[in-house]
Amino acid sequence: MTSVRRPAADGTWRQVVATAAGLGWRVAPRRTLVVAVLTLGLGALPAVAALLFKHLVDGVTSPGVADDSRVVALALASGVAGIAVPLVVAVLGYVALSMRLAVSLAAQDALFEALNRQAGLRFFEDSRSLDRLRLAESAADVAPNTLNAFVLSVLQCAVTIGGFLGVLVVTWPPVVALLLVACAVDVLAQVRISRARVRTSEAMSETVRRQLGYRLLLTDARAVKELRLFGLTDFFRGKMIGALASAGRAELGVERGAARSNAGVSLLGGLVSAAGLLVVALRVRSGALTIGDLTLFLAAVASIQSCAVGLVSSWGSAVEAVDLLRHYLWVRDSPAEIRSGAVVPGPLVSAIELRDVWFRYTPESAWVLRGVSLVIPAGAAVGLVGINGAGKSTLIKLLTRLYDPERGRILWDGTDLRDLDLDALRRRVGVTFQDYMQYDLSASDNIGIGDLEAIDDRARVVSAAEQASIADTLRRLPGGFDTLLSRTFGADEAGATTLSGGQWQRVALARSLMRGEADLVILDEPSSGLDAEAEHRVHRTLGLIRQGRTSLMVSHRLASLRDADLIVVLEDGVIAEQGTHAELVEGDGRYARLFVLQASGYLERSWTA
Ligand SMILES: Nc1ncnc2c1ncn2[C@@H]1O[C@H](COP(=O)(O)OP(=O)(O)O)[C@@H](O)[C@H]1O
Ligand SMILES: [Mg+2]
Repeated sequence: MTSVRRPAADGTWRQVVATAAGLGWRVAPRRTLVVAVLTLGLGALPAVAALLFKHLVDGVTSPGVADDSRVVALALASGVAGIAVPLVVAVLGYVALSMRLAVSLAAQDALFEALNRQAGLRFFEDSRSLDRLRLAESAADVAPNTLNAFVLSVLQCAVTIGGFLGVLVVTWPPVVALLLVACAVDVLAQVRISRARVRTSEAMSETVRRQLGYRLLLTDARAVKELRLFGLTDFFRGKMIGALASAGRAELGVERGAARSNAGVSLLGGLVSAAGLLVVALRVRSGALTIGDLTLFLAAVASIQSCAVGLVSSWGSAVEAVDLLRHYLWVRDSPAEIRSGAVVPGPLVSAIELRDVWFRYTPESAWVLRGVSLVIPAGAAVGLVGINGAGKSTLIKLLTRLYDPERGRILWDGTDLRDLDLDALRRRVGVTFQDYMQYDLSASDNIGIGDLEAIDDRARVVSAAEQASIADTLRRLPGGFDTLLSRTFGADEAGATTLSGGQWQRVALARSLMRGEADLVILDEPSSGLDAEAEHRVHRTLGLIRQGRTSLMVSHRLASLRDADLIVVLEDGVIAEQGTHAELVEGDGRYARLFVLQASGYLERSWTA
């Protein structure tokens, strides 16, 4: 049930190529057609131009063959063929660019649409899918176009080479065989070189990633602080330069081999052309061939060789594009694990109930929750405590259906969360996560996006800010609630500013308080960013606004949960104790011991990292 459903296998070469071509066809059918036709035309032009030129040369050098008007016509036609090439290239360049942009846009849109369909968290927290996601993102941008360009240039070259071979066969068949041998040697050598390039870049990708990591460290504001105080700047610079240098050495090694191969192939190609040229020249002298045939031969050799070189050099990037596109297709076509049910939940009237809930993040990892059964009565203020890693945040992820339990059920007034309409359920829950978000938006919008429909309702935004005890701070900002808040220290944009960790947390709290319909308000460890007084204040406000709402607060500051209707102690994936503060103190268990320790002012943060 929890294993991520994945497409059975990665796409084959043919599927991947078809996807890229299909994308172009679907997004811009007319432009694709124009590009294909122009490309084929461009492929045919060199042979046509060379043939016209041959007849022109023959007409000029052997006066008996053609009259003046024919020579004039051939000269004009050759000229037109010559102009046609740059003209077609210019038009093709523009249309192809417009097609590339459309394809890239569509590919990225499809990718992010698919990602947004992933209603759960597993896809984004699983390192395997995350790796593929990064690759898919880079693929969406360029890979379909790289592949389409490769396919088009194969077509273009096929027409060019085919055209010349056809012309040459008519002129003198054996030269075709000579040219084919030269091409084959060239292709084999280039394929070997590009394979080596792909292998090296795969082997070096780890080094490149590490190098990037060090580079980020050396410029990241948070890291910069620590690097300076620990005297680590040159340590990491050394590591970065070391990684860069080793990537450079590997590249140089491959290119050394490539240069040797290239030199050998060029030599061989040169020998074949020279031999062909000699034979053709001798046959011209003996009168078996014309001077025009000689020009045709020279044009053919040049065209065929440049085609082969061009094709083979783009072979490497095509292989890479296919590989990247496999990741793209995998991500795009991954089915969503969390699916919405159909029942629209009403306001919570009875309780949220966890029945023997078991959960682990992957089938290989340990159980985080091992049979949790708990009733959260409607309207109750529930405190959740437990040591770091006990599974408190995980429990919240299950309550909000970012994950589903592997075994057991969670019921909302008796209905399984899986049967509820997901969006409606989430509108009924307001959560401030432990790792809350800081958006590069104005203070007002940072709060207002808690309920998009009310984003411009300043009165509600201010009221949420009041409830979260952050309104006064925001009013004092240079632009008041309209001040742009930036996540980065020393915000660069004029008028932008940033807040301290605890202030950000209160903004996040205000955001979740924007959810007017929320029946369930969840706060995950506000203590990590709030001082004792602020936490107490927030808690009191929560108590005030709680009428009709149910709240679940995770805290390691036991004193702030003292008034809760129910305190739940989570330990080793099960509920070790639960009851009111008085009951738990009476019971003299783990909670009671910790409470006494904290109350005596000693070890206040005993349950934190
Ligand atoms: N995305 C994740 N993937 C794998 N393991 C995780 C993930 N998130 C949390 N865990 C593990 O689950 C356990 C419970 O984590 P969590 O619910 O965050 O604990 P708490 O909030 O009580 O400190 C920890 O052992 C943690 O390492
Ligand atoms: Mg946590």
